[in-house]
Amino acid sequence: MIRITRIGHVTLSTPDPERQVAHYAGLLGLSIAAREGDTIWMACPDDHRSIALRHGEAAGCTALSLQVPAGTELRDFARQLSRQGVAAEAQSDAAPDTPQRLLLATPDGLRIEVEAERPAGRAAGEGPIIPRKLGHAAFRVTDPERTVAFFTEALGFRVSDWMGDFFAFLRCGPDHHTVNFIRSPAARLHHIAFELRDWDHVKEACDALGAQRIPLIWGPGRHTVGHNLYTYHHDPDGQIVELFAELDRMSDEAGGAWDQRPWHQETPLRPRRWEMDPFLSNAWGIGTPQGFRDA
Ligand SMILES: [Fe+2]
Repeated sequence: MIRITRIGHVTLSTPDPERQVAHYAGLLGLSIAAREGDTIWMACPDDHRSIALRHGEAAGCTALSLQVPAGTELRDFARQLSRQGVAAEAQSDAAPDTPQRLLLATPDGLRIEVEAERPAGRAAGEGPIIPRKLGHAAFRVTDPERTVAFFTEALGFRVSDWMGDFFAFLRCGPDHHTVNFIRSPAARLHHIAFELRDWDHVKEACDALGAQRIPLIWGPGRHTVGHNLYTYHHDPDGQIVELFAELDRMSDEAGGAWDQRPWHQETPLRPRRWEMDPFLSNAWGIGTPQGFRDA
């Protein structure tokens, strides 16, 4: 089976691209990789592309790109999808440095762009934070079970954890999650998340955000599901941005356990469905802010 192995980038529609550039390049420190038409491509050092900003009337996520290993024949992947009843359209030269890609849609209609993995750009922007990479994208979906079935059966993702029956975390590589899906009446982006180096980097990011008078909306804290350190803030369009470090990893997929960490509840720790608990959202006990999950 051909599987998705990496998250590519998210495409964000924005009424004011330059205001978003000021945030993502000037503060977060992504580099500007390309400008073409109404689209600005930006990257963290460990990514080829991390986000694409596209001018549009409303702010939102219009596409998620996912990657298959370099050298994969996209035609073969399209045939595999077709056998599972998933339609995929091939596109040529639709984006800079992207000779081929496949377009498909999730059950809720989110556009997925499948492309081959490409080398990281290794360029850093000028802002003070400079995350390593885009880590994951979290979406509000109307039916998490149906979305999980699509991502596992058609795209080769594995289920890492469930929070109760309303929040699913899926991986396509060693990282605990590259997509996650929370049950909601309306489908749309919940947040995008960038990986920082470590706890000191989280602290430096909080200082940089505070210096720009951008308030944190939650954190710093440590999630129990995935065990990542986190902060959340809004970008200028009101999209939620997470900065995280120390996310669980599964280096040995066949072994089926998370790499051992001192803060784990048990050893070995394996994927599971977590029961609701006051310390589940935040292992340090400060719970989810009012309205955050519905944001
Ligand atoms: Fe997240």
